[in-house]
Amino acid sequence: MIPYGRQSINDDDIAAVVASLKSDWLTTGPLVTEFESALQQVVGAPCISVSSGTAALHCAYAAIDLGPGDEVITPPITFIATQATAALFGATIIFTDIQPDTGNIDPQRVAAAITPRTKAIVAVDYAGHPADLDELRAIADRHGIFLIEDAAHSIGSTYKGRPVGSIADITTFSFFPTKNFTTGEGGAVASNNPELLERAKRFSRQGLVRNLDEFKITDQGLWHQEVHEFGLNYRLPDVLCALGISQIKRLQTFKAQRREVFENYCEVLNTIPELLLPTKRVYVDPMWHLFPIRVPARYRREVFDKLRKDGFNVQVNYLPANRHPVFAGQGYKASDTPESLRFYDQEISLPMMANPEILSTNFFGEIQNCLRLAMKKEL
Ligand SMILES: Cc1ncc(COP(=O)(O)O)c(C=O)c1O
Repeated sequence: MIPYGRQSINDDDIAAVVASLKSDWLTTGPLVTEFESALQQVVGAPCISVSSGTAALHCAYAAIDLGPGDEVITPPITFIATQATAALFGATIIFTDIQPDTGNIDPQRVAAAITPRTKAIVAVDYAGHPADLDELRAIADRHGIFLIEDAAHSIGSTYKGRPVGSIADITTFSFFPTKNFTTGEGGAVASNNPELLERAKRFSRQGLVRNLDEFKITDQGLWHQEVHEFGLNYRLPDVLCALGISQIKRLQTFKAQRREVFENYCEVLNTIPELLLPTKRVYVDPMWHLFPIRVPARYRREVFDKLRKDGFNVQVNYLPANRHPVFAGQGYKASDTPESLRFYDQEISLPMMANPEILSTNFFGEIQNCLRLAMKKEL
């Protein structure tokens, strides 16, 4: 089976992890700060590292003090962590439909969904293609609300020449093995707003206050630390930061390799007229996390099954989040966001990774052939 995504680990990555295991610090040590500095160089904003992309989203919502009565506007085409971490704070999730070509949240629909209770717009950079950040930024600024970008797919992408991470009020990343680079499990929160980043950091480190000037209990010794708001332990250990520091040095190579896979797919699949290939806006330079194709819905299942049978471990990204029973049980209807439903019914994610060695010399020809046969059979 050709996996749909796979990490690329080389000898330098392994040596970096081994060295960290031999050091004094397995966690809370100097590699955490070093990794966060390396991240800042790439994303154009100060960062904190956390234990997953889900943790990063949870911290982002904690940073904006999300709570019951607040509404967050989100797209259905995403991994449900985008919504789950907001729902856990008691916020109301507002599903807003996508643009049919990019799969990203549609700014016009976002503008129409704003109410006095809206606290944040959450964009997801589907497949690595940045959302319409300028339009969303303008809506957020007009209403004095936050723009959060779930960039689990898009570290390394740029929007109008600016890196993903430098535009939204808070941007979150994931370093799961299929992502653009990996720490095994891991994630990060980026923000150019120091207050928001400090709140996210505090939430990720048990809510502990260590700054003398902020203490409410003032008669204690040097050991003292105290909690003003609850937090959790979402720290990323030094061992995984060591892997991150080594991997992030390879980010541009990974980006070029993913671009090459993308271009090869476009070249061979352009010849099959029934297929819809991913769109790229001229002003973005995506780091492609997925290669999502769309086939007519009536035979998506057959095409999917044939690809799997022929050894391509394809996936579908994603079941619209409002269709999950946890939301359906609360009265949400996927039919309220018909573009998302249509997108889901047609979508198949082909293998996408930065490991040219996994793809045989005939890989693109074989997948073209498999798709052509599957489509012909059904036409
Ligand atoms: C869009 C999106 N958001 C959030 C996450 C959560 O990231 P993690 O798996 O690192 O918790 C993912 C991961 O699959 C994702 O694809």
